[in-house]
Amino acid sequence: MSATDTKATMTGPEMVALSKQHSLYEWSAQAHVDPIPVSKAKGIYFWTPEGKRFIDFNSQLMCVNIGHGDPRVIKAIQDQAATLAYANPFMATEARARLAQKLAEISPGDIDVFFFTNGGAEANENAIRIARLATGRHKILARYRSYHGGTGASLTATGDPRRWAMEPGMPGIIHVPHPHHGLKRGTDTAEHALAELEEIIMLEGPQTIAAFLLETVTGTNGIHVPPPGYLEGLRALLDKHGILMIADEVMSGFGRTGAWFAVDHWNVVPDILTMAKGLTSAYVALGAVGIRRKLADHFKDKVYYGGLTYNSHPLGCAAALATIAVYEEDKLIERAKTMGAVMRKMLEDLKAKHPSVGDVRSIGLFGIVELVRNRSTMEPMAPFNGSSPEMQALGKFFREEGLYTFVRWNTFFTNPPLCITEAELAEAFAIIDRSLAITDKGCS
Ligand SMILES: Cc1ncc(COP(=O)(O)O)c(C=O)c1O
Repeated sequence: MSATDTKATMTGPEMVALSKQHSLYEWSAQAHVDPIPVSKAKGIYFWTPEGKRFIDFNSQLMCVNIGHGDPRVIKAIQDQAATLAYANPFMATEARARLAQKLAEISPGDIDVFFFTNGGAEANENAIRIARLATGRHKILARYRSYHGGTGASLTATGDPRRWAMEPGMPGIIHVPHPHHGLKRGTDTAEHALAELEEIIMLEGPQTIAAFLLETVTGTNGIHVPPPGYLEGLRALLDKHGILMIADEVMSGFGRTGAWFAVDHWNVVPDILTMAKGLTSAYVALGAVGIRRKLADHFKDKVYYGGLTYNSHPLGCAAALATIAVYEEDKLIERAKTMGAVMRKMLEDLKAKHPSVGDVRSIGLFGIVELVRNRSTMEPMAPFNGSSPEMQALGKFFREEGLYTFVRWNTFFTNPPLCITEAELAEAFAIIDRSLAITDKGCS
């Protein structure tokens, strides 16, 4: 086989061996990675070259929201590639023009102007820069129990162990507590969380703080929905101090929670909205920073100091336009809401049946199961930032049974593509139900 032949003529073990030999796997010690070889995907399923089928219960990395292999998006990418595969960011293209117009239509409030990037981390990098340039202030508040991306500023803003290895990172980022403190301590009320935040704002000096960056609904750090009143109260608090709100909806955007954006559930309009993943359902890499009109106007006379060779890439823009059309044609946003209610019931049933289920949380098709050794003490089935024999056995069982999802610390995720049917959800939950016998045995 020649180097340019990309047909899947390799066996799974060959793919794994060569991928491991010549490429670096992220966030991992290379000796411990054990990748699943993937050769094709359709709808909610993907397959290994040997024909083993997996239910994609994490939409890969919480991104293939419309499901795999949608011919409408594939055709749009093919057509764009045939007409104009690339134009540099100083040009205007039809794909860029139409996508920016469409995003202005579906984004909350007066979010009207978009800066395109290659993904979510770069979207947050640019959001932070826009906030600093526009306010003339340099500090950024970000929360613990967050992930904002694997590059300089976005990783410094990240509030989980992925940040530790590259500290001290970028100066000026201040971490503040998340309203959720783990199952033992629970979640603060909005009043409590906001009073604590206001104290930190006072201590840091409001006139030095450009923006507060938050995941509207926390993703990998535990699917935490804000307590009632939190987001509205936060908006008022930030307004009071002239601090911009940056909502990171890289994971929670594009229907995942049963609304275009999670902020829509509370009718809160952030000043800056970052997005990626579901924007193209990951068919092509693309991210974006949405900004309110009055903030965008700051850059009418002042230079925006930011750029990327692949900014507004025509293939990404065409893929995003076609993906958004699929959300609309197939009513996937509404579907995430209705199927989310079905999934919620299935999650609750797991909790009622299995002693190792300490908590289930979900909004739309964004869900998590948190496992504990004991429901009275809420001792987690694996420690913070760690694993345990039970959690490892659970992951192994999922893989053997053809269910792909993220198993992290003492949790696993239920984030299927939004096109999933009730029967397919039931198929996945039947595997999960059987798997929990493993963790139930670890209960005291
Ligand atoms: C909330 C959030 N922000 C930012 C990112 C980073 O996006 P990317 O990996 O596309 O750079 C992620 C990725 O998982 C995310 O979940």
